Amino acid sequence: MNFDIKDKSLANKGKLRIEWAAVDMPVLKQIKQRFEKEKPLSGMRLAACLHVTTETAMLMETLKAGGAEVSLCASNPLSTQDDVAASLVVNSGISVHAIKGEDNQTYYKHINSVLDTKPTITMDDGADLVSTIHKDRKDLLSYLVGGTEETTTGVIRLRSMAKDNVLKFPIIAVNDAETKHFFDNRYGTGQSTIDGIIRATNRLLAGGNFVIAGYGWCGRGLARRAEGQGAHVIVTEVDPLKALEAVMDGYRVMPMAEAAKVGDIFCTLTGNKEVIAKEHFLLMKDGAIVCNSGHFNVEIDLETLAKIAKSRRMVRDFVEEFTLPSGKKVNILAEGRLINLASAEGHPSCVMDMSFANQSLSAEYIAKNYKELKNQVYNVPTAIDNQIALLKLEAMEINIDKLTPAQAQYLSSWQEGT
Ligand code: ADE
Repeated sequence: MNFDIKDKSLANKGKLRIEWAAVDMPVLKQIKQRFEKEKPLSGMRLAACLHVTTETAMLMETLKAGGAEVSLCASNPLSTQDDVAASLVVNSGISVHAIKGEDNQTYYKHINSVLDTKPTITMDDGADLVSTIHKDRKDLLSYLVGGTEETTTGVIRLRSMAKDNVLKFPIIAVNDAETKHFFDNRYGTGQSTIDGIIRATNRLLAGGNFVIAGYGWCGRGLARRAEGQGAHVIVTEVDPLKALEAVMDGYRVMPMAEAAKVGDIFCTLTGNKEVIAKEHFLLMKDGAIVCNSGHFNVEIDLETLAKIAKSRRMVRDFVEEFTLPSGKKVNILAEGRLINLASAEGHPSCVMDMSFANQSLSAEYIAKNYKELKNQVYNVPTAIDNQIALLKLEAMEINIDKLTPAQAQYLSSWQEGT
């Protein structure tokens, strides 16, 4: 088995942390137990490009229990937990190619290493496996029967490939499952982003202006948590509906050019590029803190900031201070990469349980149904989504009501009125 990780001697620490995560992932645990018996993925080679975290370790072990031959690389150069990578190699016999802080060249070398296994199924978080295959490794298309995609940004990329008729194998959009984005994107990003900002800066959020760019599921989640910490939340948006929603949720909404003047902490979660750009840096207060929790490091225009800055220096782990020509300072966290995974540990296990239950069951769905699938982006089947919600409630020991026959009849009839 080949691998490329930082240090095998970190394996024991990783194993303990994976065990800690497992406690809060009861749905995935049940799926793993069934997979052990039924082996629905036997014969499948599965290449995964995901954040290498304790929760991902649980997913990899589930897929392996299902009979797949699994290999894993990172979906972001800064999100790998090196102790987890070590434990997966040493204790679980899984081929991992990921090192926290790897440069771009190594990042793509690692992607190509997992692709060298000639996967039949891809599992992406940001679509880097799929786009590398379509650009540089077309030779692999003959082996591939399907893939899954974890995140909003990746799904957007893949849907546009499908629209242009260039997608060469079927993809299941795990992100779009309700048991994924309602919880992972909203509560997971909300909590882990706050966690990342606090771990990196140790600043108080109460009383400060917290600017959130983007009011999708992730932005909404972050706004709720920042508000809970006592921050004054300001939202910037380009979508009128989302902007209106933010207003009605009780937040101030304004363009970034105005928010830039008053913000103490800025966080981008838009999925778009140059959301915070040169003109905004120049307007910021001295000491402003700027970070990103969107998938790619394109949301903050760091290239231009580096060009206009008089000097730059690391002032704490994950905090780089740029001094502008005016003498004012702007602090960029984690090189503009996902702050929740760079300086914290990503989403808590409780929500990743549902996201990765969707991944496991979608991989099983592909293995069983690939002959019927076309080269399109599919939603996770509703039956899978509902099953995961039910299993999660059961694990939380929460019972809910059932429709009476009369209520079921009422819902399906149109004749009954006042
Ligand atoms: N994305 C966000 N949080 C994550 C986590 N804990 N594990 C894997 N992927 C993630």
